[in-house]
Formats: sequence, C-alpha cells, structure tokens
Amino acid sequence: MVTSSATDIALEDPPAVHTTAGHPMIQLRRLFRFFGRTRAVNDVSFEVEAGQVFGYIGPNGAGKTTSMRILSTLDLPDYGDALVDGFSVVNDPDLVRKRLGFMPDHFGTYPNMNCVEYLDFFARSYGIVGRERTKALRHTLYYTGLDKIAEKPIRGLSKGMRQRLCLGRAMIHDPAVLILDEPANGLDPRARIELRHMIRGLAADGKALLVSSHILTELGEMCDTIGIIERGQLIVSGTVAEIKAKLRPHIDVLIQLVERGEELGSWLQGREHVQEIQASDLVVRCQFVSDDQHDQAALLRSIVDAGYPVLEFSTESRSLEDIFLQITTGAVQ
Ligand SMILES: Nc1ncnc2c1ncn2[C@@H]1O[C@H](COP(=O)(O)OP(=O)(O)OP(=O)(O)O)[C@@H](O)[C@H]1O
Ligand SMILES: [Mg+2]
Repeated sequence: MVTSSATDIALEDPPAVHTTAGHPMIQLRRLFRFFGRTRAVNDVSFEVEAGQVFGYIGPNGAGKTTSMRILSTLDLPDYGDALVDGFSVVNDPDLVRKRLGFMPDHFGTYPNMNCVEYLDFFARSYGIVGRERTKALRHTLYYTGLDKIAEKPIRGLSKGMRQRLCLGRAMIHDPAVLILDEPANGLDPRARIELRHMIRGLAADGKALLVSSHILTELGEMCDTIGIIERGQLIVSGTVAEIKAKLRPHIDVLIQLVERGEELGSWLQGREHVQEIQASDLVVRCQFVSDDQHDQAALLRSIVDAGYPVLEFSTESRSLEDIFLQITTGAVQ
C-alpha cells in the first residue's frame, strides 16, 4: 500500500512490471502527478500496441503534456508507472530513452545550423556512428520531406518545416515508440494532411505512437484508438466507434409546423427520450436521447396522431466535435 504525499489517498500497489515479449509498446499504469493541489495526472492508465496510433485528446491543462513528459523520462510520477516496450520510466529510464522519440510542444532549434547538421547532432547524441548515421540521416530527411532543403539554415524554415525537422529529430534513432505533443499545432491544412500521412506511415512501419491534440476531429481520422483526458483523468477511451457507442446518443430533432409549435413544445415535455425543448410558433427543436430509429419514428407518429400539422421532421446525429463537448466540461484546474 502506498500513500500519496499530495492527498493522503490510500492506493493499491501498482501491478508488477513484466518485460517479456508480447506486451503493448506503451503502458500507463495508474499514473499520478500532482503539482501542489493540482492533480495534473490523476490515475491514468492506457496501452498502445505496436503499429497503433493512440490519440490523446483534452482541453488546455488536462494533463496531456505532463503524462507525455513522464513517459519520455523528463519527469517522474508521484505514483504509478509508465512502461515503454516493457521498461519502466522509473526503474530503467536509459532503456526507455533508447526506444522512444519525443516531439515536445515547444522545441528548441539551433538557428545557425542547417537541417542536416541539426539531425546529425542528434544522431551523434544517440551514439549512431559511421555508415549507420549516414543511412539514418538519409532516411529521416527523405521521410520528413526535408531532403530538398537539407542544407537550408534553420532560421529560414517555415513553421511546418520546423515541425518536420523536430519529427525528424524524434525519429532519427529509429525508435519503436514515438510521443508527439501537439504535432499539428500551427500547421496549415495541407501540412496537417501530410503530417497525418507521415504518422500513419510510421504506424505501418510497426511503431507505436501517442499523439496529442485539443481537436478530436484532427485525430479521429489518423488514430486507431482515442483517449479523452480532462482534469487529469481519462474520461473515456476506445476506438472512435466505441466512444460513440459508449456515450449517450444525442440526436438533434427539428420539427417544422404550419402552426401550434409552442403548443407542441408543451406537449413534448416529459415524453420518453425527449429533452431540451425549444419551441416557437412554427419550429420546435429538441434533443432525442435514443439512436433507435424506431423510437424516432414512434415520436413522429405520435405527434401526427395528436393532430399537429407537421411539415418536416428531421434528425441529425452529433459530430465528433459535439461528442467532445458533451463529455468534457471545459473546466480548467
Ligand atoms: N511544472 C509545473 N508546475 C506546476 N503546475 C504544473 C506544472 N506542469 C503542469 N502543471 C499544471 O498541470 C496541469 C496539466 O498541465 P499540462 O501541461 O499537462 O496540460 P495539457 O493537457 O498539456 O494542456 P495544453 O493543452 O494547454 O498543452 C495544469 O493545471 C498545469 O498548470
Ligand atoms: Mg500540453
């Protein structure tokens, strides 16, 4: 039994660490990190397999960077553990670093170097020598599309090019795990699409990727699994389809009438699956909390049977963005 110094919460010991093959490449196991009274990371667990992209989504201050920094061995948890390829960030940080590339949300570049010098510097730092280094540089420059501007000074690079360079830095030692903290931040739509292709390409090469963003739709298409974090806690995780299924369905219903809309608004009060009714004389809007189309058809039938002159009855499912708003409160700690 461990007692957290920050809160005096009694916690069960984390499960034992196994470093055998066949494990997920990234594992967060009941991770906690407190800054004073702020629970930046508050009991977060999830796993990412080789060849998978995990989208880590949450509003400002949710705890994404804090947990990514712990995973990248730049900070230590107050409780729990994070494992990379089965190695613990607490017990084996050196073995973790060899297997992991981290692209931070703010990165330092050296303005007087050019791209190839910058990548060469990091390749040397990782102890890559001789022909292996030449190969690593060539592969990274090609992969990130920087080969044509390899000798351009960093000070002259656009935002998108800098992002690519930092992705190159993170992948120069061919790590099995990549942690990318808001890699799409500040990129234009074309650069975002290219980034998405690069990320999917890295996953196709068998790497495990953890990618953070504020924007669910940005990650929805490139991720296999998504976890939504708010105020240090993982509120929901799974595939996009699983997350949609887990959440209470919200269907927006729009009813247009010839007349008596306000009367219909009152009539709808307390009906099964119907909530948040807004009614004017000609239009009634409400939310329908069942995605069973038979229930929706039954509602329409009962409205018509009650004699309301309905012109149009339309339904619209919630988008990914709406789901995000539905499950996060936007509270900042
Ligand atoms: N070194 C620190 N000292 C004190 N508080 C910190 C520190 N690092 C993070 N925090 C706090 O921990 C919480 C989580 O911050 P974190 O940077 O992990 O959020 P985030 O999800 O990455 O947010 P953003 O989307 O803005 O990057 C915030 O309340 C933040 O103020
Ligand atoms: Mg952050």
